[in-house]
Amino acid sequence: MGFSRSWLVNALAFGLLSVHAQLPKNGGLTDERPTYGSPEEAVYAPVEPKLKTQWTDGVAADPDNVWPEYPRPGLQRDNWLNLNGVWEFQSANSSDDISNVPVGTTLEQRILVPFCIESGLSGVAVQSPFSWYRTSFNIPESFEENVILHFAAVDYETTVFVNGEQVGSHTGGFDKFWFDVTEYVNKDSENELILFVYDPTDDFDEVIPLGKQRVVPSHIFYTPCSGVWQTVSIEAVPASEYITSIQLLAAADGSVTATIGTSSNSSSSSADISFYDPANPSSIIFSTSGSTNEAFTFTVDPAPSVWSPDTPVVYNVSVTVGDDVARSYTAFRTVERAEVNGVPRYLLNGQPIFQFGPLDQGWWPDGLHTPPSYEAMIFDIQYVKDLGMNFIRKHIKVEPDTYYWAAANIGVLVMQDMPALSDARKPNAEQQTEWERQLEVLFKSLMGFPAITSFVIYNEGWGQLSSGPEVYLAPRVAEWLQGHQLVNAVSGWNDYGQINGTSVGDFHDNHHYSSPQCGTPFSSLASLPYLGDRIGFQGEFGGVGVNTTIDHLWNDVEAIRDIPQTYEIDATVDVWNYRALRVIEELREQTEMFGACNGAVYTQTTDVEGEVNGFLTYDRAEDHVDHEKWEAAIAALYETFAASL
Ligand SMILES: *[C@@H]1O[C@H](CO)[C@@H](O)[C@H](O)[C@H]1NC(C)=O
Ligand SMILES: *[C@@H]1O[C@H](CO)[C@@H](O)[C@H](O)[C@H]1NC(C)=O
Ligand SMILES: *[C@@H]1O[C@H](CO)[C@@H](O)[C@H](O)[C@H]1NC(C)=O
Ligand SMILES: *[C@@H]1O[C@H](CO)[C@@H](O)[C@H](O)[C@H]1NC(C)=O
Ligand SMILES: *[C@@H]1O[C@H](CO)[C@@H](O)[C@H](O)[C@H]1NC(C)=O
Repeated sequence: MGFSRSWLVNALAFGLLSVHAQLPKNGGLTDERPTYGSPEEAVYAPVEPKLKTQWTDGVAADPDNVWPEYPRPGLQRDNWLNLNGVWEFQSANSSDDISNVPVGTTLEQRILVPFCIESGLSGVAVQSPFSWYRTSFNIPESFEENVILHFAAVDYETTVFVNGEQVGSHTGGFDKFWFDVTEYVNKDSENELILFVYDPTDDFDEVIPLGKQRVVPSHIFYTPCSGVWQTVSIEAVPASEYITSIQLLAAADGSVTATIGTSSNSSSSSADISFYDPANPSSIIFSTSGSTNEAFTFTVDPAPSVWSPDTPVVYNVSVTVGDDVARSYTAFRTVERAEVNGVPRYLLNGQPIFQFGPLDQGWWPDGLHTPPSYEAMIFDIQYVKDLGMNFIRKHIKVEPDTYYWAAANIGVLVMQDMPALSDARKPNAEQQTEWERQLEVLFKSLMGFPAITSFVIYNEGWGQLSSGPEVYLAPRVAEWLQGHQLVNAVSGWNDYGQINGTSVGDFHDNHHYSSPQCGTPFSSLASLPYLGDRIGFQGEFGGVGVNTTIDHLWNDVEAIRDIPQTYEIDATVDVWNYRALRVIEELREQTEMFGACNGAVYTQTTDVEGEVNGFLTYDRAEDHVDHEKWEAAIAALYETFAASL
């Protein structure tokens, strides 16, 4: 246990341990400004998180190789350079500081990019609403023409300076963005990259998409994750015209709607697309072409293998526009809401399917929103799959693109939530408009990922205006999605059901802890009764927890104080298995008796901070699940559903 001796020595030498042993809870900078020695002497030293994972030490010990994976499986090029690693960092005092860009100035601290500022792995581990980042890079000789600077995600507002010049800015903590920095960089000398990042979380009267982050964490709300939290990279592209986006919407019948965006925005170029044989990677099974920057459709012939959780066949694709060649992937599947014997069902490839899996927060004790590594991130998906589940509700967080690629390859259906606004404050008109803008950006950029088969607009009424914006958002979102995903307008609470005879969204999604109410003729007062017009679905239930030892808990006084807020705490793991499996059995009985339940989301994959109700502890080290019993119970759910049709 423990970080290596050398980091400890460094940390003590620079006073990091005493200053950063605790995350401040006040949301701002502390009055005391820590001292780190001279800026030039500062080193990266991880801050011991309140709980570690099996990956923490390995990542901290090799900071030059963090998140080495190419970040975009949907638009890959060979000629790129990963900028992750140790950067300079310094908190700023206010947004006014942006007028004083620290060009040529060494900053006080070091941070391990892409771990967010508050995380232990970042080496900073304080809340910092205003922050400077600084690093340098050289352009590889192989970069012959244009240079793109990519950010896979930075929370929340980012202003980018290259060699002292402002390149641009971006708002939104969950969507990727990029700049063509060709005119700002020197090809034959070092380049300086500086970021100014503002992340209010739920402070400063801001109401922004933030999911579960709170300046003051408590029970189901967790430590914020600000700043750079996914990979930063540069990439070489041709000067003439290059591909900026690839969207392939592939259906079970082999038809594909392709949209290839390029830097020219013009439809006068041709995009050539080839599909590779999954069994024989060097063999092209089908090629076609269409105009850039507008949708075109075609049918892959011979008929491709259809994707499902049981047959997770993914096709690699290449796309060529002029001198630019990119690789991508897709999978052929169709989702629909359709009645089967008079009952609304969720159909995958024409067959009713019961979606069962966990509410998945994607939170890590050492990296918070940033998984410590790709292997760690995939561990959670594989865990779900190995237990016999076919589904994950990705809860009010967006993951790195690599997550959705892995989900397609492993064979898991993802219900993707929009990152929620705060539960505590409603947006004003401007904040609502910005939330809707980000909703459109995120859903449109994610809808090409075949593993995502439905989207959630609102969670439990959080930030949902009483005038019911989901009434106008649900049809708008459905139009964007072109039937490629279904729409869950409201997961829990303020559900408007039908407006003027038209159903709002595709799901009737009730939340009910601890016992389910899935397509049942009974409901709690806060929810709309099941009306029979939409897919009956249990968007959250469970909430049964078992406490563990301090070795596997988020070691924070407030978090441990909040554990009893879990709906039920069971004395032992055996009792937990008994109680949680009773809840699963209730769901099975309802599916059998009332015949209108099409799936359910069990809360949740892991414990998170003070919320202790996971299959796994927060560090993924203790597995509470009696696998034999759970696998049998989950198989029984699928069998009961099949018999209920
Ligand atoms: C930020 O505030 C601290 C403490 O008041 C002060 O010492 C420092 O000079 C300020 N930094 C800037 C950039 O204004
Ligand atoms: C293409 O469209 C984008 C987004 O609207 C814009 O920023 C860019 O300048 C356009 N490029 C050209 C060459 O018109
Ligand atoms: C598809 O491409 C990925 C990289 O994106 C590669 O890892 C995988 O091996 C390829 N699959 C096949 C069947 O060639
Ligand atoms: C429902 O119909 C009424 C009467 O035609 C109309 O005023 C109202 O705007 C409609 N509501 C929605 C959400 O379309
Ligand atoms: C959970 O376990 C921790 C560590 O042993 C303990 O401090 C805490 O009181 C326990 N909480 C409950 C609700 O059992």
